[in-house]
Amino acid sequence: MAKKKPLKFKESVGIDIGTHSVKLVHLKRLHDGFKLLNYEIKPTVPEGVEYIPSDLRKDRYVPIIAEMLRSLRINPKKINHLVSAVGGDQVSIKQIKTIFLPDDELESALFFEAKKHLAISGGEMVLDFQVLSLEEKTNNMNVLLVATTKEHLRDHTNILQNAGLTPHFVDAEALAVANSFALNAYAEEGVYIILNLGAHRTTMVIYGQNTKFFARDIDMGGYNFTKDIMKARDLTWAEAEKFKFEYGMQAPSQESNTVSLSTLDISDKPTEESIALEVKRSLRYYVKEAGNSDFRKILLTGGTAKLKGLKEYLEENVNIPCEIYDPFYNLEMPEKFKEKRDPQLSLALGLAMRTE
Ligand SMILES: Nc1ncnc2c1ncn2[C@@H]1O[C@H](COP(=O)(O)OP(=O)(O)OP(=O)(O)O)[C@@H](O)[C@H]1O
Ligand SMILES: [Mg+2]
Repeated sequence: MAKKKPLKFKESVGIDIGTHSVKLVHLKRLHDGFKLLNYEIKPTVPEGVEYIPSDLRKDRYVPIIAEMLRSLRINPKKINHLVSAVGGDQVSIKQIKTIFLPDDELESALFFEAKKHLAISGGEMVLDFQVLSLEEKTNNMNVLLVATTKEHLRDHTNILQNAGLTPHFVDAEALAVANSFALNAYAEEGVYIILNLGAHRTTMVIYGQNTKFFARDIDMGGYNFTKDIMKARDLTWAEAEKFKFEYGMQAPSQESNTVSLSTLDISDKPTEESIALEVKRSLRYYVKEAGNSDFRKILLTGGTAKLKGLKEYLEENVNIPCEIYDPFYNLEMPEKFKEKRDPQLSLALGLAMRTE
């Protein structure tokens, strides 16, 4: 989580430990920017085996990460800048406004504020913060609070350590998502919405240079799309997953004995509709909270950003221009990777490109 001191390093590794896949990127730092050395995306559930979020064991990550390090020929002892991230229910982020506080009072006062504002329960809270700006006229300061529990952080660092790694920086996923965007900056004025669409979860971040930061999780992702296809087309998990990769939401028309994806039971809204509704609800909340509705673009990242037809669906239903985010915008790429600009790597890149 962010500290405002420039960091010195020659190479960096960003690792995004998702419930479906681990994403690892290895970068070389250049005089101005970064070069991609290598990367890998490795599923944590064997192909054809049903991914059931509630059944997934944390200890499956260690051998997978160790194997990735071997195949990428990265010696874990030689990494001097490793950045990873924690997310989910046990991480909470909020931008608050408080009266000006001198440095020596800041930490204890913010700890108190965080208890008030952030929904972290069951365990000892770990707090990080960043002073974003000072408002001279009102003598207020805008501060970004990030909290998690000691236990959640320990579970995360245990995975890395058991894979032979030494954790250096642990970010909050939502901040890393924003970071990937801010560092790749083609952002102009205005407000951007980033949706990191994973397997069981979508992290929604609202970000802009001069606007309030907002982040929340929507409990839906690629898993729910596969489930929809299983139901609507009466397919097994493996068949539905294959179907999803091939057609996404642009499936050929159905035979008469099956129901269409968008006409599931009334009680069962299709996943794309539920996500669009949640996004719109959050945008309404944001307009009230931040007094800013200058929404420019929705950017899709994560594995499910690749779902065919989703970009078009969201653009039409949320009514904001939508694009699949290219996290390689500002990165020097070797020839062999030129065609592989995968949005699934956004978070790992946002982590590896952290310089302060
Ligand atoms: N080309 C594709 N088309 C459609 N879906 C895809 C494609 N590639 C990957 N996915 C889906 O993306 C999801 C994995 O994405 P990602 O790696 O971002 O998730 P994760 O980080 O492991 O999950 P979470 O963040 O929810 O823990 C899976 O549901 C997978 O089926
Ligand atoms: Mg993820």
